[in-house]
Amino acid sequence: MARFTDRVAIVTGAATGIGFAIASRLGGEGARVVMVDYDVSLAEQAAADLKDSGVETLPVIGDVGDADTARQAVQAAVDRWGRIDVLVNNAGIGGDVGNVWELPVEEMDRVYRTNLRGVYLFCHHAIPRMLERGYGRIVNIASIAGKEGNPRMVPYSATKAAVIGLTKSVGKELASTGVRVNCVTPAVVRTRILDQLTEAQVQYMLDRIPMGRPGDVSEIAALVSWLASEECSFSTGAVFDVSGGRATY
Ligand SMILES: NC(=O)c1ccc[n+]([C@@H]2O[C@H](COP(=O)([O-])OP(=O)(O)OC[C@H]3O[C@@H](n4cnc5c(N)ncnc54)[C@H](O)[C@@H]3O)[C@@H](O)[C@H]2O)c1
Repeated sequence: MARFTDRVAIVTGAATGIGFAIASRLGGEGARVVMVDYDVSLAEQAAADLKDSGVETLPVIGDVGDADTARQAVQAAVDRWGRIDVLVNNAGIGGDVGNVWELPVEEMDRVYRTNLRGVYLFCHHAIPRMLERGYGRIVNIASIAGKEGNPRMVPYSATKAAVIGLTKSVGKELASTGVRVNCVTPAVVRTRILDQLTEAQVQYMLDRIPMGRPGDVSEIAALVSWLASEECSFSTGAVFDVSGGRATY
């Protein structure tokens, strides 16, 4: 029996990049996957691709920063499959590159809306469904930027640090239940998100990876799939590094 047979997962930002790799990996191991994204054409294509490979999927189109999107995704999972076992909060944006005194304050609000409010909303709406059944696995995609702090990426680094804090808090809130909450902190992975940054900024981040290469989406998905599984039983509120050695703690 596959590891996620009968399990239902919600993956945000599932239309491309790391989110698509996670959705494919969980689906390939038997999960039924609600794929949330605000890019309509990418999301429909991604859901069709997974369906073609035999995965049961349900696309939900919406901005993770809207409470309605989280409500809809949770309801869709419950209506279609009666349960939510796994939530992967993956949707994220890089934000504009610039020093804190140069970026408009609105840029902080924009990045916060996706990177932190989105994670909060999905936890808020999905956790009661997990508690009803006494089981759940939540995996939040933070970033090495949240641990180390990348200059010229303050909104990104600060919101990713906040995702780490959220993970630690929620993990403790749920520690005596069957729900585990953990996060991962990837270093550079070549996906579309890098198009939001300057080449110099990407080089700065690559230069700090001791392995001397970016990560691959499959390497992030492999760690996430373990954290999303029953085998992850004695870890919660924890931060799992996947940064080619960049993390110093
Ligand atoms: N790629 C990297 O180098 C890297 C490193 C560390 C952490 N991360 C994190 O991994 C996650 C995935 O990043 P990626 O590299 O795959 O990015 P990506 O840009 O390739 O994909 C992100 C996906 O999320 C969707 N999305 C973005 N904002 C959304 C919103 N508000 N509502 C709904 N959907 C939204 C996009 O449409 C897209 O499909 C992000 O949280 C990112 O911060 C990425």
